[in-house]
Amino acid sequence: MSVLGDDRPIRISLVGCGRISERHIDAITSNPKLELVAVCDELPDRAKAAGDKAGVPFFTSYEKMLDTAQADAVAICTPSGMHPRQGIMAAERGLHVISEKPMATRLEEADALVKACDIAGVHLFVVKQNRLNPSIQLLKRSLDAGRFGRIYLANTTVRWNRPQSYYDMAPWRGTWEFDGGAFMNQASHYVDMIQWLVGQVESVTARTATLARRIESEDTGVAILRFRNGALGTIEVTMLAYPRNMEGSITVIGERGTVKIGGTALNRIEHWEFAEYDDIDREAELLRAAPNPLSVYGSGHRPYYENVIAVLRGEAAAETDGREGRKSLELILAIYESARSEHEIALPLRAFSRESQRA
Ligand SMILES: NC(=O)c1ccc[n+]([C@@H]2O[C@H](COP(=O)([O-])OP(=O)(O)OC[C@H]3O[C@@H](n4cnc5c(N)ncnc54)[C@H](O)[C@@H]3O)[C@@H](O)[C@H]2O)c1
Repeated sequence: MSVLGDDRPIRISLVGCGRISERHIDAITSNPKLELVAVCDELPDRAKAAGDKAGVPFFTSYEKMLDTAQADAVAICTPSGMHPRQGIMAAERGLHVISEKPMATRLEEADALVKACDIAGVHLFVVKQNRLNPSIQLLKRSLDAGRFGRIYLANTTVRWNRPQSYYDMAPWRGTWEFDGGAFMNQASHYVDMIQWLVGQVESVTARTATLARRIESEDTGVAILRFRNGALGTIEVTMLAYPRNMEGSITVIGERGTVKIGGTALNRIEHWEFAEYDDIDREAELLRAAPNPLSVYGSGHRPYYENVIAVLRGEAAAETDGREGRKSLELILAIYESARSEHEIALPLRAFSRESQRA
């Protein structure tokens, strides 16, 4: 695995200068250990605006940026369905890949990206910045320490509002090929969180509906999960909460503890109770006073890049590498498969390669 040993800043180029790119550019340019070397967007005005603002060269051709700009890694902030192909192009040139979530919209394409990075000997990072929220970290530590005893029930709820104008902002939004629906895009952090915290999902039953938005994919859905450890789970997602975002939360109920974390972006502790005291409880108490981030994107991109730096310097393991990022994609695809077939779907899904599909 290629690792940067010296102390020079890690050079990063970025593709896709839309909404989320600002978080990446902020995280890169505010960190002396990182250097933004180029940006690219197929829309010339966006590319130029982002390049001029950051004081770096801009490109409208991704391939040209890859071949021209001297970078160690590329941050991919384009529509989700493009991440695998653009990631593979970067890996083939020896660049580490930082992909926005979800890493792909199809499992076989996610696998192709993981494989390409393995073959090239480069790291693949999938951005799951909410995992690094201090409140979520305390919950994870409590779970890992066994403080809950047996887990009985877990829930994640995303009741947001995305008006039609949001979907109309870009042609890729709400399409199956490039985006997916509420589960794949807006709620993907929450789906990731429930499986990361509670454990492997054994089977899922789901229903989805497109009730009010003119999009290919769903604006609303529910899923029932059965976890390998015996716990049950539910996921409830809608982009139709009237008149504005109402809730984004995760709740874990166990034998000896109950925790609910909500807030704007899974940051606020709403309920925290355990049978036995642990010093983690004091940290949780202090966190209750922390302010809410202003945006549902949260404030995790800066800490996420700290992990990227540590990994590329050979000092840490990746918080979410390709294999870790793939897990929630697989669960979301199982939810879609259940909704389509009206059957319970067992995990793991079989990821057919195009060759085996033809066979
Ligand atoms: N981590 C998070 O919390 C978070 C939040 C929002 C979005 N995202 C993810 O980030 C990605 C982008 O979302 P967004 O809201 O910023 O979308 P966006 O539409 O605002 O931006 C995407 C940009 O990519 C550009 N683009 C498209 N095809 C291109 C190509 N071939 N070459 C170069 N540029 C190209 C578009 O012109 C656009 O400017 C999605 O995968 C989304 O799921 C993650």
